[in-house]
Amino acid sequence: MRIYFDNAATTPLDEEVLEAMLPYMRGYYGNPSSIHADGRQSRMAIERARRKIALQIGASIGEIFFTSGGTEANNMALKCAVRDLGVKRIISSPTEHHCILHTLDTLEKSRGIEVVYLPVDSKGCINMDVLSETIDASDKKTMVSLMYANNEIGTLHDFERISILCDEKGVLFHSDTVQAIGQFPINLDETKVSFLAGAAHKFHGPKGVGFIYVNGDNIIKPYIDGGSQERNMRGGTENLYGIVGMAEALERSCKAMEERKNHVGEIRSYMKEQLLQLIPGILFNGCQEQYLHKVLSVSIPPIDNGEMLLMLLDMAGVSASGGSACSSGVEHESHVLTAIQGHPDYKTIRFSFSHHNTKNEVDQVIEKLRGIIN
Ligand SMILES: Cc1ncc(COP(=O)(O)O)c(C=O)c1O
Repeated sequence: MRIYFDNAATTPLDEEVLEAMLPYMRGYYGNPSSIHADGRQSRMAIERARRKIALQIGASIGEIFFTSGGTEANNMALKCAVRDLGVKRIISSPTEHHCILHTLDTLEKSRGIEVVYLPVDSKGCINMDVLSETIDASDKKTMVSLMYANNEIGTLHDFERISILCDEKGVLFHSDTVQAIGQFPINLDETKVSFLAGAAHKFHGPKGVGFIYVNGDNIIKPYIDGGSQERNMRGGTENLYGIVGMAEALERSCKAMEERKNHVGEIRSYMKEQLLQLIPGILFNGCQEQYLHKVLSVSIPPIDNGEMLLMLLDMAGVSASGGSACSSGVEHESHVLTAIQGHPDYKTIRFSFSHHNTKNEVDQVIEKLRGIIN
């Protein structure tokens, strides 16, 4: 049996989620836009899913739009804010996911948007005073775009404080919450956010489906032209069973949040202790006080086999990740590690866990690592 320690890249589908999806793959195949009974049944399933998702994050039903995943939701937030809301300046950070950084690049080049990257410290944290001063430094219409939880090193930005600051200063706030949804409680009734993004495959739902939350105050135009699906916002026949599965997965993740968090947190701490004993001089990346519990990013001092560590782990039956898994297969220095000025001669591995993992699996991985290193 392989050991899967790459849950920040994607998570296995929960069995109950698959069960919830199956009827919509088999029997209920009506097009949700068709007005006959088969279509109406599918439409009802989509609207039930929208309600479930809205409920989990304290949003209104009309503020949730389904997308193909986190990348599309984040593209939509940034591009629509510029095109439809008059945003001329975006404040972000160099440790964001590529779907943010590359979109910002595009907006800078094609729309002349001013993009300001806040400095981050060696743990990947921003300074709130610097954020405040940066917002004040211009009277251009501004949006802050900062992720909740970093996918590579697990560092958290202070979502609540950033929201309060943005609200006080009258600027928009977009957050890439792809790694945080289902892991931390989010209540948009209390926390004011303009846009946020979710992806089902990060919380044991299916791949290729996600959603964007658009605060009702922000009136944006269609992102994908076509049919009138998603209240005209995104043309194209909906991913019916994906949407049903996502809602089920989010509801289950939120219900079991504390329990899963405690379990995953224990696995992470145990792995950390074992690694400290096994590898002298090992470093743990990102903030170790407030963190995304599923992620443990380590940097290993130069050792024999160091360069091939990930590959050898893979051959020994362990799936883990190097830099960002979204660009896996391409060996280049991680922009996050560069931003936090990690040791370039150390080998970085990201282990990431879920409630399916066990301490016994940690023991097995440690033994395999011992074998590889020795
Ligand atoms: C923080 C973060 N944002 C966005 C994405 C992209 O999500 P998707 O793969 O659903 O497009 C990922 C995926 O790894 C992520 O970790």
